[in-house]
Amino acid sequence: MNIHKPRGGGAKSNLAEDVRAGLTAARKMLPAKYFYDEIGSDLFEQICATPEYYPTRVEHGLLEDVVDEVVDLACPEVIVELGSGSSKKTELLLQAALSVQPSLRYVPIDVSETALADAGGRLVRQFPPLTVDALLADYEAGLEHERVGEQQASKLFVFLGGTIGNFDHDEAVELISAVRRQMDDDDRFLLGADRVKDHETLRRAYNDERGLTAQFNLNVLRVINRELDAAFDLRAFEHHAFYDPALSRIEMHLISKAAQKVPIESLGLTVEFDRRESILTEISRKFTVPGLAQLIDAADMVVERHYEPENGYFSLIFARPA
Ligand code: AVJ
Repeated sequence: MNIHKPRGGGAKSNLAEDVRAGLTAARKMLPAKYFYDEIGSDLFEQICATPEYYPTRVEHGLLEDVVDEVVDLACPEVIVELGSGSSKKTELLLQAALSVQPSLRYVPIDVSETALADAGGRLVRQFPPLTVDALLADYEAGLEHERVGEQQASKLFVFLGGTIGNFDHDEAVELISAVRRQMDDDDRFLLGADRVKDHETLRRAYNDERGLTAQFNLNVLRVINRELDAAFDLRAFEHHAFYDPALSRIEMHLISKAAQKVPIESLGLTVEFDRRESILTEISRKFTVPGLAQLIDAADMVVERHYEPENGYFSLIFARPA
């Protein structure tokens, strides 16, 4: 098991520019990928275990039901995963593939080095015939990496958890198109996406009783304090997450409780906040089945299978090049 760091494209390489651009904009924002340092990745795992956050459980259950068919249809020699995190759900795929073939290469791509190291170590112990070549990178850089594209083996690209929802429509089409550019005719793509549903269920999933999502949200300020020598007081901001039905998305914000000025030493920048001014820290889009088909179509792929649980809470799309 080894972890490659693509040159120039590694995690956090753009933190400084992203923070400068995001916090000097008229409507302040921060990219969601910076949540996932060691603390943030751990908080996310804890969120997944809360009763309110249904996507992880629903997707896991759905995947259990369909992995054998997916492996049968894809016959993957390599599984490339965007945003692998703990790889808990992917384990089902690896297990299913290795029950019908002698070997498999797994290429997890993630911005969290601790998540890659923990998951990779666990998986090679659990599945001796598995080769793990992890890439510490964001999706764009990871997909460009030679180890992903340069070889003839049949590949299954997977992007689970509903993380596609972190991207607006154009960005999502661009990301899935970047996957498509790495695919040959017999390669396949498995996408997990959260669905539109009653607004209270959606809202509660991002406002858990224990306040773990609030801590996760605030953690991005801790990351900026550490990496850019900034002076955010985490107690001076509050978590705010709501469902916007017009845009079919959760918006997660950090609201400044008072007017304040926050120096960011490494950027030579002081950021001013009005009382109640917000930073948009994440969008999490919720999809309809036609919306997903449209996304896949826009990226020059076709849906070969669509899987959903009875309550329609989540979708797994299995697609191939058009
Ligand atoms: C990991 C991006 C799928 O959008 O639901 C969980 C992240 N944010 N709670 C999501 C998240 C707040 C999660 N994804």
